[in-house]
Amino acid sequence: MAGTAAAGTEADDRAGRVRGRRIGVVVAVLTTIVLVFFARRIATDWPHVLDGSVPDDDLAEKYVASPWLAYGHMVPGVVYLLGAPLQLSRRFRSRHYVLHRRLGRVLLGCALLSGVLAVVLGFVFAWGGRTESFATLVFGSWFVLCLVLAFRAIRSGRVPDHRRWMVRAFAVGLGVATIRLWVGVFTGIQLGLLGMTDEPMPARSTFGVAFWLGLGMHVAAAEWWLRRTPDLDG
Ligand code: HEM
Repeated sequence: MAGTAAAGTEADDRAGRVRGRRIGVVVAVLTTIVLVFFARRIATDWPHVLDGSVPDDDLAEKYVASPWLAYGHMVPGVVYLLGAPLQLSRRFRSRHYVLHRRLGRVLLGCALLSGVLAVVLGFVFAWGGRTESFATLVFGSWFVLCLVLAFRAIRSGRVPDHRRWMVRAFAVGLGVATIRLWVGVFTGIQLGLLGMTDEPMPARSTFGVAFWLGLGMHVAAAEWWLRRTPDLDG
């Protein structure tokens, strides 16, 4: 009997490790996509920001016109995305608890700044129009709320709740990459299948829908993950 129980625990551990590795690969791929788009932004915007010229595409024009707002959102967002996986790793938390707390404060500040400015961006930039503004308001507010509730939970010693709210916030942050994947899918359909080659920027008309799909999928995925891994609480 004891042997069967031990074999069961070993199998659970193995399954947990495989699950952890898979999710690690997904997080790494999505983070890389965000980094590529961030690097592309810098390469497109900064020559214009530095020499005061106006780019000839209307998306870059907004980033160049408001670099403080745009990079006040992107830079802390990237710092948060790079640091959060470490914070969510149970091994890191249990081995480096003091560092987890210190780094947590820095990353929380970064994420809150990025999230609040995301909502402003969604109105000031809104390349994808009202659909994008509304999606940004809904998911940006959700992102900020999750962070605030995670902080409140840990201040009152509710560790499992703290983990749950932090997982939810991270899922939204990572959703930024999935928006770009949807933009790619829609652009492929518009150019390849519908032959919309006359449109200068076909992605624009579907940009807002990509926001809803990308971020909505990530909110749902976080709930799915939390139901599958209640055993990781704490
Ligand atoms: C926390 C991690 C985040 C990172 C690393 C991040 C990164 C970025 C990057 C790199 C861009 C420029 C994209 C491009 O040129 O293709 C961008 C733009 C933007 N982000 Fe974020 N972001 C984050 C979170 C969010 C959240 C939570 C929201 C709102 C739900 C949001 C809303 C926006 C908006 C509205 C834009 C402007 C899009 C446009 O040009 O119309 N971001 N972000």
